[in-house]
Amino acid sequence: MGKILITGGLGYIGSHTIVELYNNKYEVVIIDNLYNSKEEVHKTLETIVNKKISFYKGDVRDKELLRKIFKENNISGVIHFAGLKAVGESCEIPLEYYNNNIYSTLVLLEAMKEYNVKRIVFSSSATVYGLCKEVPLKETAPLDATNPYGRTKLYIEGILKDLYASDNSWEIAILRYFNPVGAHKSGLIGERPNGIPNNLVPYIAEVAAGIRPYVRVFGNDYDTKDGTGVRDYIHVSDLAYGHVLAIDKLSKVHGLLIYNLGTGNGYSVLDVIKAFEKASNLEIPYKICDRRPGDIAASYADPTKAYNELGFKAKYGIEEMMEDQWRFQEHIYIK
Ligand code: NAD
Ligand code: UD1
Repeated sequence: MGKILITGGLGYIGSHTIVELYNNKYEVVIIDNLYNSKEEVHKTLETIVNKKISFYKGDVRDKELLRKIFKENNISGVIHFAGLKAVGESCEIPLEYYNNNIYSTLVLLEAMKEYNVKRIVFSSSATVYGLCKEVPLKETAPLDATNPYGRTKLYIEGILKDLYASDNSWEIAILRYFNPVGAHKSGLIGERPNGIPNNLVPYIAEVAAGIRPYVRVFGNDYDTKDGTGVRDYIHVSDLAYGHVLAIDKLSKVHGLLIYNLGTGNGYSVLDVIKAFEKASNLEIPYKICDRRPGDIAASYADPTKAYNELGFKAKYGIEEMMEDQWRFQEHIYIK
């Protein structure tokens, strides 16, 4: 069995996926340009999996580097995490988002073709369902994008579909993630937010750590159970395991497969704050603020397809997600 090339492998989801791959007897090679990660994560991963892991520091857009990686390693498949992911920032610097996300995918696919490696798992997002109001979201829901980040995901999905239509010996899995949160049980890897966190759970953790005074709850007049936004939070280790199942599946079938990776449960902003309070044993102050532009009332997955075809089922509930998030962030902030 060849190795799996993990682009963006030192980032949040990539690093957790590497742990799950090693738990399931796979070996990996990492490429990451450290744009949004730290080199020390490489050593931490080697400690967790107790193996040496090959790491190439560099950019996926560097075709010569990709050629070197394919020449020096026996690669049987790729999981493509590398990319930029902040919605707000994508509206400010759209060209960087199109260049990084789309161009890196093109260069990667060309190199894969050159070395006859035709198995790829791509990190898409529930953001491709745009403003769709019909929850739970099925993979067949209409697709749309409301910002440059979302458009990069939608366009890349289109590129992969075109590629498969032109040559059906490719083995492609598009995974649409819902809201990944939490961290590995060791507390050694997790998400390290840069600056003010955009996402709810890292923001709550900074309030818990005393770095920010209160959580801003973006609206309490949505048509949801308590008026606050509802999302499908999924433990990052569950999400990571979904990639192992996708790679396993692609070793058995040719095809272009699309799966939601979520739990199917929707939690409101206030539910999440309460779960975090319980997990951390701390009080989390919050204030109701205006709605955040672009947000929708509710987004959660119909996870049936991933369950039926991959056997994917999330193990961890909301409290464990918050406990693990806090174990990791406490470790960073309270040294
Ligand atoms: P992350 O920023 O933690 O990880 C991405 C990694 O890719 C980083 O280590 C970064 O340094 C690296 N990288 C970026 N551009 C690169 C390039 N051109 N060449 C080499 N390395 C590069 O992000 P994440 O949360 O782990 O997300 C991984 C993927 O999943 C992304 O494609 C993201 O859009 C997608 N996704 C994330 C979420 C989420 O909430 N985190 C939700 C849906 C989809
Ligand atoms: C956001 C992105 C989405 C991306 C995902 C993961 C937007 C519009 N969507 O999803 O494209 O794939 O992150 O990176 O940015 N909330 C607060 N206070 C906060 C932060 C958030 O009340 O300080 C609320 C939001 O209104 C929402 C929920 O918490 O109801 C979750 O927000 P967030 O964690 O940012 O995720 P999404 O908006 O679902």
